[in-house]
Amino acid sequence: MLIANIPLLPERASEQAAQVDYLFYFISGVTGAGTILVFVLLAYLCTVHRRKREGEQTPRILGSHKLEIFWSAIPLVLFLVMFAWGVVVFDQGYAVPADAPEVFVVGKQWMWKMQHPNGVREINELHLLVNQPVKITLISEDVIHSFGVPAFRDKIDLLPGRYVTTWYHPNKAGRYQLYCDQLCGVGHSQMIGWIHVMEKDEYDAWLNGKRTETLGPTDGSLAWEGRKLFLKLQCISCHNQKGRAPVLEGLYGSTVPLRDGSSVVVNENYIRESILKPLAKVHQGWEPIMPTFAGQLEDKHLNLSEEEALIRLIAFIKTLGPGQTPTPNEKFPPPIGAPTDPSKLPDGGKK
Ligand code: CUA
Repeated sequence: MLIANIPLLPERASEQAAQVDYLFYFISGVTGAGTILVFVLLAYLCTVHRRKREGEQTPRILGSHKLEIFWSAIPLVLFLVMFAWGVVVFDQGYAVPADAPEVFVVGKQWMWKMQHPNGVREINELHLLVNQPVKITLISEDVIHSFGVPAFRDKIDLLPGRYVTTWYHPNKAGRYQLYCDQLCGVGHSQMIGWIHVMEKDEYDAWLNGKRTETLGPTDGSLAWEGRKLFLKLQCISCHNQKGRAPVLEGLYGSTVPLRDGSSVVVNENYIRESILKPLAKVHQGWEPIMPTFAGQLEDKHLNLSEEEALIRLIAFIKTLGPGQTPTPNEKFPPPIGAPTDPSKLPDGGKK
């Protein structure tokens, strides 16, 4: 489609971008044509049907059903096309492919903190692999922000206290601007950054450089860090096979019955709520005895905020499969993606 290549809009760097542009051009075209039509008719009718001589009488016209139907039905059809087309594009924009790796983004006044599944953390920069769909899960630590990437034709509001999700399919290597698209305080205009979409070799080189620089050889994945937190916070003393709380293996994505007779699908938001407000939705058959962990997760020493710690715990619980619940003496294997040989850990796997 030639018209979509007119350089009125930012560069397109995702599969979604062209779809959004076609819809945008259609809506702009229809409303633009409608506006022109109204003004042309106005000018024409004012000229042709003006009063031509003194005392000329205006004919009395009492409406026309044909005309009413004509100018109601045509806009209705056009608006319905916009609506249906918009629903399809919107739906594609939020239907995350199941196998897409997940990057977590935490927004705060006034910076972006990214956490990759392998544990790499970035500030105000996000490195992505070209042609690899990626799921982005976002939360705010304070006020509402908006993660906007014009080249991907995607923006999503970050809310405090709730995860939201979008996804990208970057299809062109390059460097693209990241903006905060929601006025969020005096530093709003500085809440900007860059998205780097890289070819495979370049991306691997970046990732390797990142890992040796900041992390040990086996340390690091989000799930693994979450596992360490799970042990450190003593979650394991209740959430084990003989404990006073349910085992969390294979929990993510399942539907659990609650004490009040309703049920809930275990997703990021439910896990988060259960850690911070354990009594809000208690699993049927279990006593409401879990203490809240609100205020206990932040680790200033590791420069880890509460939200970042929650993301790690969630990553651990998400990957926790049958037989993978750790014990204080590490008898059972760690979760998928985490190193399997505890002796290779810097601390020899003691904790
Ligand atoms: Cu964050 Cu504007």
